[in-house]
Amino acid sequence: MIRDLKEEDLNQVYALGNLLNENFSKGNPLEKSLMDSYTHTLVYESDNKIKGFLMYIELEDTIDILNLYVDKKERNKKIASNLIDTMFSNMGQGIKMVTLEVRTDNVPAISLYKKFGFLVLHTRKNYYNDTDAYLMGRRIVE
Ligand SMILES: CC(C)(COP(=O)(O)OP(=O)(O)OC[C@H]1O[C@@H](n2cnc3c(N)ncnc32)[C@H](O)[C@@H]1OP(=O)(O)O)[C@@H](O)C(=O)NCCC(=O)NCCS
Repeated sequence: MIRDLKEEDLNQVYALGNLLNENFSKGNPLEKSLMDSYTHTLVYESDNKIKGFLMYIELEDTIDILNLYVDKKERNKKIASNLIDTMFSNMGQGIKMVTLEVRTDNVPAISLYKKFGFLVLHTRKNYYNDTDAYLMGRRIVE
């Protein structure tokens, strides 16, 4: 089941996020998804456990994807695809562009985003400590 983040999910989502990035819990806007109207976190729950999440900011005419993670044991079951589909279904009218940054060596994520129509717009040199990032984007045509 995919649903919005609830307060009682925070520990589980932080635990998953720390697998994505060891600095995840430092200054992460996860709680903001509970408090403001533009930060969103969708979670995938099964057997009462959170097995994946997608965090994004929806501001005026743009969505920026901040984090996407699926539990290692649960990959290749279309969980990430379902989270992205849900984000697109929930998106407000007037969104013109969806963007994200991804490590240039992250083949699974780049293939996933290309499948959803994202294109590489730009390479951000040394965006991460040890490598570059692609800025990817998908223009939304009404
Ligand atoms: C990237 C990630 C979110 C994909 O999650 P997932 O639930 O396994 O993805 P899905 O099952 O929805 O896969 C959909 C598509 O993604 C691509 N993909 C997923 N895993 C892949 C892999 N290991 N190698 C190549 N392509 C892959 C494929 O195009 C796949 O479509 P297909 O099954 O028809 O071939 C997951 O691997 C993950 O959490 N990785 C670590 C965190 C991360 O890199 N997040 C993205 C940061 S920007």
